[in-house]
Amino acid sequence: MIMKSSMTKTEPKKIAFSGIQPSGIIHIGNYLGSIQLWLEVQGHYDAIFSVVNLHAITVPQNPKDLKANTLNAAKTFLASGIDPEKATIFVQSDVPEHAQLYWTLGTITKLSELYLMTQFKDKSQGTETVLSGLLTYPVLMAADILLYNTTTVPVGDDQRQHVELAREIARRFNDMFGKTFVVPQALIHKTGSRIMGLDNPGKKMSKSAANKNNYIALTDTAADVASKIKKAVTDSEGSIYYDIDKKPGVSNLLTILSLITGSSIKDLEKTYREQTTYAGLKNDTTTALVDFISAFQKRYRNISDAEVKHHLDLGAQKARAMASQKLEEVYERMGLSL
Ligand code: AMP
Ligand code: TRP
Repeated sequence: MIMKSSMTKTEPKKIAFSGIQPSGIIHIGNYLGSIQLWLEVQGHYDAIFSVVNLHAITVPQNPKDLKANTLNAAKTFLASGIDPEKATIFVQSDVPEHAQLYWTLGTITKLSELYLMTQFKDKSQGTETVLSGLLTYPVLMAADILLYNTTTVPVGDDQRQHVELAREIARRFNDMFGKTFVVPQALIHKTGSRIMGLDNPGKKMSKSAANKNNYIALTDTAADVASKIKKAVTDSEGSIYYDIDKKPGVSNLLTILSLITGSSIKDLEKTYREQTTYAGLKNDTTTALVDFISAFQKRYRNISDAEVKHHLDLGAQKARAMASQKLEEVYERMGLSL
């Protein structure tokens, strides 16, 4: 997926930054849409991955749960194969420069730009009181990205608009104060960039879904997986091929199976060409997911909290060293340092 051929030895290393909110569940949409890409970039890029707890508090959190979820999210990075020798992992609030840069960037971001964000519209819809953090969330995300001279942001498709705004903010700052920020690019998988809800394949799989059958969590048991895939919404046509508009449920299962097993969608279509029910596809998807999740959980159980904390401490030190330089540059440019 990553174009290694274009990366010669003399070329400066590219820098990848991404984050996941510690809001409890990490589902296979997060894994296939985002973490799988992180695994591809680490080693080829200077990679920095953050548990973005300051983003998580834009919706109410129980402090005790937030702490536990933060540690568990970092453990998930490690159990997924993120290698702290190759990548920097840290907790966002351990590097105060994120909140500091957020403030300065907020002074050049238009309200009209923030109101346009789909995620803000979705999350604020139906709530009586809309808190300002929900609106300014993408400015903090821009700060996360721009602090590290990030060239590449591996994310799911739902974050495309936020990365676009980060690019706009970087260009604006550079125009106003002189070249300071690298203008980053989103790196989005062609397949898997949007894993859909199992109960409603018209909408993306989401941890905030009311129905637990919407997602497969990395913490699900084999029985959970089997039951959720069995109930996954499909259609009544009885033939298996990829067509996102006509057959969103079947296409979603093909995408999941393809990404987990590494088989192409074309090959999967051939495998199931003669089948007239979805039972085979569902069984195979269940088996592939259960194999993947049980191996993941085994690795997860073998990682101690102390080990995670150790890597997060080291990661925060490394991240701070980079972030403080960039913030100093910004303060200098803006006339904030004497
Ligand atoms: P979040 O859980 O919102 O912090 O998202 C973490 C990462 O997972 C981001 O890169 C998202 O774009 C990605 N992601 C979240 N939901 C999905 C989904 N349903 N399909 C693909 N990627 C997703
Ligand atoms: N907003 C992202 C999400 O909800 C998480 C995130 C925060 C992020 N800061 C980031 C992703 C910086 C990439 C880069 O998924």
